Amino acid sequence: MIAASNDPPSLISPNSELPLNPDIAPLKLGVLASGSGSNFEAIAQAIVNRQLNAKIHVLIYNNPNAKAAERAARWHIPAVLLNHRDFTSREALDGAIVQTLSDHDVEWVIMAGWMRIVTNGLINAFRDRVINIHPSLLPSFKGAHAIQQAFDAGVKITGCTVHLVRLEVDSGPILMQAAVPILPDDTLETLQTRIQVQEHRIFPRAIAIAAQL
Ligand code: GRF
Repeated sequence: MIAASNDPPSLISPNSELPLNPDIAPLKLGVLASGSGSNFEAIAQAIVNRQLNAKIHVLIYNNPNAKAAERAARWHIPAVLLNHRDFTSREALDGAIVQTLSDHDVEWVIMAGWMRIVTNGLINAFRDRVINIHPSLLPSFKGAHAIQQAFDAGVKITGCTVHLVRLEVDSGPILMQAAVPILPDDTLETLQTRIQVQEHRIFPRAIAIAAQL
């Protein structure tokens, strides 16, 4: 019997798949992630499933312990550590990010749980091509603790938002949202799990929509 594993269901690299339409070039993505990388993985899976015509050229992560890097290795996607502690300013970190993305021929920047505030250096280098996901129905509950804030506020519906990135944190044109009810017996953990299910569903779709604007 083959043992169950946490590996992706298929070890085919998302980069090895043919594009949906051979006349349309795949989007050239660079993903920024600080943590678990489940959204990074959802995008890779959507590419393999041919739901998103794209290729992930590189993952950049800032936290040496980020699980996202392990996921990238399993998908055979190059991963580059740019530890923010090695840089003297946000601008210097973003300069290194822009250089790394350019070195990997990236055209679209996907912030998938990137827990650093970005500067104009990155935003202007990829004008209208930097996309973020946030775990609330923006413009409600901006910031790093959005799920906790919604939970504490007693709202009955929260959700997640995919949007273009502007200098003001968690602002910018909204591409797609999904609503998630807060149930009477929810804990922070059960709510977060249901929000992430929706994040994984809408993020690849929103990237495809952004490319058509
Ligand atoms: C997501 O909930 C996203 O909305 C927020 O950070 C989380 C990242 O999760 N910005 P993961 O690393 O993709 O699992």
